[in-house]
Amino acid sequence: MSQIQIIGGNRLSGHLRMSGAKNSLLPIMTACLMVRGTVYLHDVPKLTDLNQMLHILADLGCTVNQRGATVKIDVDELYTHIIDRQAAPKIRGSIFVMGALLARLGKVELPFPGGCAIGSRPIDLHLTLLRQIGVKCHCHGDTITAAYQPKPHRKPTVLCLDFPSVGATENIIQATALGIAGNTYIIHGVAKEPEVVDLCHFLNQCGAQIHGAGTDTITVHSVTQLHGTTYTPIPDRINTGSYLIAVAATGGDVTLTNTVPVHQINLLNKLKMLGAKITTTKDTIHIIMNRRHAAHFNVHTAPYPGFPTDLQSQFCVLTTLIKGHSIITENLFENRFRYVPELIKLGAKITVTGNQAQITSVPALSATPTPNLCPSSYHIPDPQSCTGTTITAHDLRGGVALVIAALTASGTTTIEHADYIYRGHEDIVKDLRQLGANIVALV
Ligand code: UD1
Repeated sequence: MSQIQIIGGNRLSGHLRMSGAKNSLLPIMTACLMVRGTVYLHDVPKLTDLNQMLHILADLGCTVNQRGATVKIDVDELYTHIIDRQAAPKIRGSIFVMGALLARLGKVELPFPGGCAIGSRPIDLHLTLLRQIGVKCHCHGDTITAAYQPKPHRKPTVLCLDFPSVGATENIIQATALGIAGNTYIIHGVAKEPEVVDLCHFLNQCGAQIHGAGTDTITVHSVTQLHGTTYTPIPDRINTGSYLIAVAATGGDVTLTNTVPVHQINLLNKLKMLGAKITTTKDTIHIIMNRRHAAHFNVHTAPYPGFPTDLQSQFCVLTTLIKGHSIITENLFENRFRYVPELIKLGAKITVTGNQAQITSVPALSATPTPNLCPSSYHIPDPQSCTGTTITAHDLRGGVALVIAALTASGTTTIEHADYIYRGHEDIVKDLRQLGANIVALV
């Protein structure tokens, strides 16, 4: 069990470069299964989730080589349509293999996908869309099997999502991009997240014909073959947002490079309301936070361009520190407040009712127990037992929120189960040390 220890109170300052987006790279990697040839992916961070995905690809027959931040994936023949039973349940992204293998091999067998325990994470929208294009799907026990033989159509097949699910959109795009030339699929109500657009750019660069990415309707004209390419994914907008929130929470002066400021508009506007001075160029974001203003936020998580659920916990930490009363409503995943009891250990005042958190600001967070909670304080305080608080990460983004809280808190905070954080951050400790934080990784 890995731990991160932080002595809070330092302002953050300096420069930090963002790497490629995990949530782009997961579907892009599975899309490689549809390619005949070699794909070079640049700017690939070393994340446990991406390593698991590369393991799944290698197990299916791809040759995978990683040198620094570049991954080379050679796809000639695939050995099997059965996904490794050990690796798949560990990552949610394993579900994307479904669309890609159906397009390439016409069949797939996989265990139910895993991922962070942030909610029930059903796959009904994925299966409904796949069934509508003629895929025969069966779920038995913890296994999904599916078979598909596309037939030529004279008219476009029109599909519609009941909710703009990111994963279901990415899966149906993959299932239809490679197929019978002349077949057209018009998919309404799709997700507009930048990672969906990135997947479509990648596939188009491999020879696919996908139009409308980033709007509510995507049109896919199937092609019979996809070729290799070299591709750099978009920078990780969630990690970028997390670091911006960290600076807003600690105060400081930081420039983030390799970013896409337009992906952060929702967050940047909120940070400006708090008094952050923000300047952007095409690919950098400079944030200066000196004095935070009072503010009352009423934040609702929503599909892009709404406020991202993946930044909800980090933003909640910030709202505990700004004068005022804020409300955060989580509309996507029902288990996304598991970090709250941990923040309360640091002195936060948050009440959760259903999918809503009510936050009353506190002057500061503190990792040092108050004297009346420390038994030895009745006599002579014991410095060892009276300083430091241990809190536990329960998922990736909630874990990052705890890191931000600890950066602001006085005293020493130890975060247990830090391995969750490495699912999405190659080296959060190195990044934050570079910005001046007092942080170490304990193994
Ligand atoms: C992706 C991201 C995740 C992010 C989420 C929302 C990846 C690997 N993960 O997850 O980091 O938090 O988008 O931006 O890209 N739903 C159903 N049935 C389905 C599919 C989804 O009911 O078949 C529901 C989910 O329970 C959730 C909502 O739809 O309430 C959004 O899920 P979705 O957009 O599919 O998220 P993921 O693709 O799982």
